[in-house]
Amino acid sequence: MRTDPFANAEAQVIGPARPYRQRDHIPVTHQHIFTMECILTASRIIEILREDQHFATWLDYLDEIGPPPVAISLVDGDAFMAALADLDVPVDDIETLISLRFQIESDPDLWWILVRAVHSLLLRMDIVDSPPGFHPMPIAIGPIAPFFYVYVFVMMLAHTKALHHRRSIPEVITIATMADIGRNMLVHRKWHGTHGLAAPDWLTLHPRGMIYQLGRLQFERSDIDKTTGNAIAAVGLPYRTGDSCLSIHIPDFMGSMSAAACDDSFHQASIFFADHFPEEEFHIAVCNSWLLDKQLKDYLKPASNVLSFQSRFRQIRPAEWNNDGPIRFVFGPIDEPLESLPQDTSIQRAVVSHIQAGRSWHGGMGWMEL
Ligand SMILES: CC(C)(COP(=O)(O)OP(=O)(O)OC[C@H]1O[C@@H](n2cnc3c(N)ncnc32)[C@H](O)[C@@H]1OP(=O)(O)O)[C@@H](O)C(=O)NCCC(=O)NCCS
Repeated sequence: MRTDPFANAEAQVIGPARPYRQRDHIPVTHQHIFTMECILTASRIIEILREDQHFATWLDYLDEIGPPPVAISLVDGDAFMAALADLDVPVDDIETLISLRFQIESDPDLWWILVRAVHSLLLRMDIVDSPPGFHPMPIAIGPIAPFFYVYVFVMMLAHTKALHHRRSIPEVITIATMADIGRNMLVHRKWHGTHGLAAPDWLTLHPRGMIYQLGRLQFERSDIDKTTGNAIAAVGLPYRTGDSCLSIHIPDFMGSMSAAACDDSFHQASIFFADHFPEEEFHIAVCNSWLLDKQLKDYLKPASNVLSFQSRFRQIRPAEWNNDGPIRFVFGPIDEPLESLPQDTSIQRAVVSHIQAGRSWHGGMGWMEL
């Protein structure tokens, strides 16, 4: 008879009683021998997370929504590898993800969070209403922290594909869209110099069918906010706060954004959304980015792609960006001395000299009629 390594896991939980009404099914893998020390350490994860108010609130939410009504599983073997490939996970992160999945499968707390996080996304599939955000996991939970949400997105993949299939979205667009998850692992390296997923909260859009990569740009289904609605009304157009709009994003690690590439993306979007989202009318696109900072005009050549992109939008007002935004997107780490940053291109020189002159970057918010 095989010994179930989880048989006593619940009894080994230390720390205050937790509010969880029930434990969801925990998969048993027999590929590893679990020591009691491992289970003890692992079973403190919820306790550790609860020390942070953000996570405490999120865990309460995950408790409230209960387990998902459908069976969900973390695929393994070739199917796991195929999922990582579909998410375009960098090749040199794959070994890590294979070895860390042991922690997920052996840890009741992690498994509970994983399943409930998936459920939180499933509850908001295909609707413009975000679930509570995915906050980066603290390193205190162990080496899985920067990779944890990758497993959530692996678990979501079949559901995302089913949704895209229902909407007749071509597979090539599904693959291009979901590749942002792997790309975000490159962004983590750029920003922090280490491996992991940089912005798990941002990536909650992709599995829910809220964002699509169409050529160089990403198009997010969104609603016109109040500030934009007022600006649109002020010029006499018939679109209002709460109407559908497309929010435009510019992924990193995809090279320059020529005007022709952007034209092509907008052209693709006009066909794509009419074909696959006929019930939603998109007449307005919005963008909130450091790239829309009007001050960039003082530094960049007139032929700059960024300036050309800016000119598509009617500026509303500065956004809430600060110097960290441009530093992060141009250089990566935000804590390097300014004098040490490379000064090879005009945008690099712009970002640094502007700050050295005592000025601030504030980004911009803009809108355009499609
Ligand atoms: C947005 C992006 C594609 C623009 O690049 P681009 O198409 O080359 O833009 P421009 O033509 O306006 O570039 C102007 C100059 O800045 C340089 N440049 C642009 N982005 C750069 C970057 N991220 N790092 C270093 N140099 C950059 C260009 O090489 C060019 O240099 P030059 O004038 O010395 O020849 C690029 O900055 C990028 O990929 N950024 C990361 C993603 C991002 O910021 N997304 C928005 C998030 S809100």
